[in-house]
Amino acid sequence: MEYQTILVEQRGRVTLVTLNRPQALNALNGQVLADLNAAMVAFDADPGQGCAVVTGSAKAFAAGADIKEMSAQGFADMYGSNFFAGWEQFARTRKPVIAAVAGYALGGGCELAMMCDFILAADTAKFGQPEIKLGVTPGMGGSQRLTHAVGKAKAMEMCLTGRMMDAEEAERSGLVARVIPADQLLDDALKTAETIASMAPLAVLANKEMVNAAFEMSLGQGVQYERRLFHGLFGTADQKEGMAAFVEKRPGNWTGK
Ligand code: CAA
Repeated sequence: MEYQTILVEQRGRVTLVTLNRPQALNALNGQVLADLNAAMVAFDADPGQGCAVVTGSAKAFAAGADIKEMSAQGFADMYGSNFFAGWEQFARTRKPVIAAVAGYALGGGCELAMMCDFILAADTAKFGQPEIKLGVTPGMGGSQRLTHAVGKAKAMEMCLTGRMMDAEEAERSGLVARVIPADQLLDDALKTAETIASMAPLAVLANKEMVNAAFEMSLGQGVQYERRLFHGLFGTADQKEGMAAFVEKRPGNWTGK
């Protein structure tokens, strides 16, 4: 597959996707969306792939939606085309996706990182929703996902002032899973992805699905949903294999069945 704005590389069972519009600090235009969605559909469909890492450059994960692409649009263009709706497909990727963020993750860049399953941040990372400075609001889910991640006070302050959060504050606030020295970010993210990709594939899907359910369901419904998925895994060969491997003190040999 030919991509114009991203680089895609398979490393064993890990797909590495690198945003590659350096001249625009990886600003997210329609082509980036099309490329990312195509890459994620291919990743999901490939039984040889178990986890993806999405990253940018040392300076910018992504500096937001492409302001130059949007600036002349009117309401009818935006509403009529349901602008940004295409990102819902990225967020529907079934296998795990890790965001490895160095430098700026602003506006749509922060929102793309939050659409991934978790964020590993370089100590150089800076997160923000600066849309207010452009006379608009987040439009790719930032007002919702940031509030879920860091709570109302910080999300409201960031959206209303446009201030950036550094990596240390982002970790303290629950936005990122871990902060890593910048020169080790990619290695660490790839190793983490390899660990995930080495697990039983159906259990990986189920774990992702049930954690995400926590954002859509009441506690009672979510616990019930978890239990049903847990029960369902007892219909898989990999559950038998995983538990036999534990008893026999050996690693599991997964079939994805
Ligand atoms: N869209 C389009 N182009 C962008 C861009 C964006 N979001 N961010 C940076 N660029 C371009 C710049 O225009 C510049 O291009 P030229 O060389 O052709 O002028 C190039 O990238 C380098 O940027 P700077 O010269 O500005 O680099 P800097 O180091 O001085 O500043 C920065 C870096 C602070 C990130 C600054 O670029 C910036 O503030 N960018 C915009 C951030 C922003 O407002 N993001 C939100 C966008 S709206 C959005 O995302 C809506 C949504 O919810 C989805």
